[in-house]
Amino acid sequence: MARPKAFITRTLLPDAVDIVRQVADVEIWPDESPPPPDELRRRAADADGILTTIMDRVDADLMDAAPNLRAISQLAVGLDNVDVAEATRRGIPVGNTPGVLSKSTADLAFALLLGAARRTSESERWLRGGNWRLAFHPTHWLGQDVHEATLGIVGLGQIGLEVARRARGFDMRILYHSRTRKTDAESEYGVEYADFPALLSQADFIMLCVPLTSQTHHLISTAELAMMKPTAILINVSRGPVVDPQALYQSLHANRIAAAALDVTSPEPIPSDDPLLTLDNLTITPHIGSAALPTRLNTMKLAARNLAAALTGQRMETCANPEVYNGG
Ligand code: NAP
Ligand code: GLV
Repeated sequence: MARPKAFITRTLLPDAVDIVRQVADVEIWPDESPPPPDELRRRAADADGILTTIMDRVDADLMDAAPNLRAISQLAVGLDNVDVAEATRRGIPVGNTPGVLSKSTADLAFALLLGAARRTSESERWLRGGNWRLAFHPTHWLGQDVHEATLGIVGLGQIGLEVARRARGFDMRILYHSRTRKTDAESEYGVEYADFPALLSQADFIMLCVPLTSQTHHLISTAELAMMKPTAILINVSRGPVVDPQALYQSLHANRIAAAALDVTSPEPIPSDDPLLTLDNLTITPHIGSAALPTRLNTMKLAARNLAAALTGQRMETCANPEVYNGG
């Protein structure tokens, strides 16, 4: 019997590719940039399975162009680039990578929180600019305390919970808002449920950990920013479009909130002339939440195992639409 064909849309670490190679003939997109949509359709045309990243649009057009497709494995937990409902209609399992990257993403989220609170990027830029002429000044570079401050987590899922665990070590009061109330987490981590306006108005740090959906698009815009304290710091490690970038720019520029820290932007990459990049009170990283080597390797291996499983007629380990399997 012919071996199945797999198309992998970005270069992966070899240990992960080997997992797919054991069961399929593999083609890997060789460029640094993701395949443009027409190239993705062309390469997927005879594929039985594809391994994608958040940069690939996986929609009905792509599925139409790939009549043999029976597995979509995404190297990410977020699936906002994949039409999961359409894949489900076609009986195609969609894998993603929850859990394996939560701790690393929470580490980065906390690094952003600490960095924005204590102005580390801003003061380093200033220092490298040759401005440090006074050895110490008692009123310079005053930031905010993290310990004992109030953190508001929006979206208490796997990453949000890991952020809460880290915040406990800083003796923070932790509020959360999520689609559903998490009474287990309330007793285990001492987090307190708050409705959205209460969280926005009480938190010193607001951490966004929701997926991008039609409900969370521009979840933070002018009205929500106006509810925050003037000293509030907004941190986004979810997806760029969860925050309205123009509203954020206006709020930061007018110092209506103190600062923001973004690991994700809209669009990605953020253009180098984007007005947000002119602001001193913005800390920004290029979507590196889960980019720690051991975690990335484990994430790649999980995505590879999901693809290999589906191509050999087995159930994916982590499947976003388990209803495609008989009995769900
Ligand atoms: P998760 O476990 O599914 O958690 C998401 C949480 O958001 C869930 O608790 C969910 O509530 C809540 N939620 C969904 N819609 C909401 C809404 N409209 N209002 C309030 N809460 C809502 O996912 P995760 O693993 O924590 O990942 C979260 C997101 O982080 C991903 O989707 C991805 O976009 C992003 N991410 C970014 C990076 C990075 O590198 N920056 C890395 C990994 C992930 P329920 O529990 O009630 O469903
Ligand atoms: C990364 O952004 C992910 O969703 O895993």
